[in-house]
Amino acid sequence: MTHIINGRKLAVKIRMQVKKRISSLAHIPGLAVLLVGDDPASHTYVRLKEKACKEAGIFFEKHLYPSNVKEENILSDIATLNERTDIHGILVQLPLPHQNTDRMIAAIDPQKDVDGFHPENIRRLDTDKPGIISPVALGIMKLITSTEKSFQGCSAVIIASPLFAHPIEVLLREYGIVSTIVSAQDPLLKEKTKTADILIVAVGKPNLITRDYIKSGAVVIDVGTTRVDNHIVGDVDRTSVESIAGWLTPVPGGVGPMTVALLLVSILKAYQLQK
Ligand code: GUN
Repeated sequence: MTHIINGRKLAVKIRMQVKKRISSLAHIPGLAVLLVGDDPASHTYVRLKEKACKEAGIFFEKHLYPSNVKEENILSDIATLNERTDIHGILVQLPLPHQNTDRMIAAIDPQKDVDGFHPENIRRLDTDKPGIISPVALGIMKLITSTEKSFQGCSAVIIASPLFAHPIEVLLREYGIVSTIVSAQDPLLKEKTKTADILIVAVGKPNLITRDYIKSGAVVIDVGTTRVDNHIVGDVDRTSVESIAGWLTPVPGGVGPMTVALLLVSILKAYQLQK
């Protein structure tokens, strides 16, 4: 039997704690989200972030751009947001349709980089003074540790871009878990994923992972969010892996709500860094 990990339930607890802490602050923390293009999954995600911010008492501002917007326009808005004292967090929703992701992220003040993707925050991950840590990575770690499984001698495979994979790799290492980062195009993908005690998939390819990719009893974390026929689907074919995987995060209701909850924690941290 596969245990389904309930991300919504874990997220509610975190959101309540954040709300309580925010109610005791001297000022209202603020988040600005930059959203480029019309990817339906990205729009859904940003709506959920907006709702969570408002519920927690965080000021929320959305900047919308057409998919062909010039990078300079976004950079100019980021520069303004970096200077604003009412905005403590800046987030560029990914993926960007055409623009250079690294260039956009590098323009954000590292203290306002609530996604933890700025090179300065990535560099500090490997030091004993971490800055802002990726909410996706923190959320994934909470989902994994909620299984209360012993991770001694465990290995992980992460199928994701380096931007998403590296923070997860660093956090797993703190638990003694060695990770291999694999590309979805790797011709030996199946052979590699089959050895993983923990498999984390963030590709955006519905049903990429079926039962023959999975080690029996593995913890499977599905980060995929693709909108198909008006609903969000993950990268893992749930029906196929059920009974092989030991644990599985559902889509929706797994990584998504945890990322949103940990984003609120990250905004709180950014606010405190800027005080
Ligand atoms: N797209 C999918 N996940 C994320 C995330 O955690 N942050 C941002 N900015 N974009 C995303």
